[in-house]
Amino acid sequence: MSFVLPICFLPLLLCPSQLRAQLGTTPNIRQIVVGRCYNYINLVNPSYRYDCEEIWRQFEEAVVHQSYCNVTVEDYGQMFYAVPQSWPCDRFLFWSKTRTLMHSYAAVVRHFWTLEDTPVGYMFNDLIWCGQEDSGTSLLGSCPEWSTCGNHPVYSLWRQASQIFAEMACGNVTVLLNGSIVNAFNRKSMFGSVELDNLDPQKVDYVNVKVVTNLNGPSIESCSQGSIVDLLHILQSRGFHWTCTDNDQTLMILQCVQDPKQPSCQTCAASLLKGFTDK
Ligand SMILES: *[C@@H]1O[C@H](CO)[C@@H](O)[C@H](O)[C@H]1NC(C)=O
Ligand SMILES: *[C@@H]1O[C@H](CO)[C@@H](O)[C@H](O)[C@H]1NC(C)=O
Ligand SMILES: *[C@@H]1O[C@H](CO)[C@@H](O)[C@H](O)[C@H]1NC(C)=O
Repeated sequence: MSFVLPICFLPLLLCPSQLRAQLGTTPNIRQIVVGRCYNYINLVNPSYRYDCEEIWRQFEEAVVHQSYCNVTVEDYGQMFYAVPQSWPCDRFLFWSKTRTLMHSYAAVVRHFWTLEDTPVGYMFNDLIWCGQEDSGTSLLGSCPEWSTCGNHPVYSLWRQASQIFAEMACGNVTVLLNGSIVNAFNRKSMFGSVELDNLDPQKVDYVNVKVVTNLNGPSIESCSQGSIVDLLHILQSRGFHWTCTDNDQTLMILQCVQDPKQPSCQTCAASLLKGFTDK
């Protein structure tokens, strides 16, 4: 697949200008990745035993000897092989264009597991890199424009990580979509182009879609409007059980916590209070 997406479509990279200004390999990337790896296996998830140095070696192998616009998903095969993983069912959280809210949601509903909680997602979150065929073992200080690359090394890694994450998903999975934008379900997003196609109806009990709009609107798409209807059709035709919820209460409350003065939050607070006094 050719890499036509702007940087903002990458699932885990922040969009701000900070990254645009600095599109070279993240300084000290080796120390960051290996350090995060040790952090992961010792503190975050001690049940995993990985060889962190080996993971880095496989990563370098995939990236440094390739021309920088020609790193495919397959090139990372050996690296992912060094990071076997499994996770209990009912915890998988997918999202698109809801990054900030997803973070608060996952922090509050502690059992959710996102791509950033997987070992590779954890190690490479927010990092940038590219190598060069003849550069020996070094990564480049300045990487090519994303749009000029056929197979951008950063995109290929996330694509592979997303695919593995979706293939592992089992039980109930949750999908968080943004009802305040057109094309909330975007076939070019990582969810629409990789994850959805790799969910297995044999392993997944329910796909629970949650559509959430910004507190101050606009309300453009919903379970019965826009591209989300297409998503539900796809789920139906592939034999998934699914539910779809507009403006789930937990998600609205989470937004209100960050912006309590919104008029819609007053109603929310009032109905919560009413719930208390009715008891
Ligand atoms: C891309 O990589 C493949 C295999 O790794 C190689 O056969 C091909 O020549 C490379 N293409 C370019 C343009 O470097
Ligand atoms: C929906 O997308 C817009 C535009 O990207 C963003 O500003 C907003 O925070 C998103 N809303 C939610 C609930 O994630
Ligand atoms: C899975 O989702 C369905 C539909 O939302 C729900 O009825 C069921 O209780 C959920 N099961 C678990 C284990 O969360």
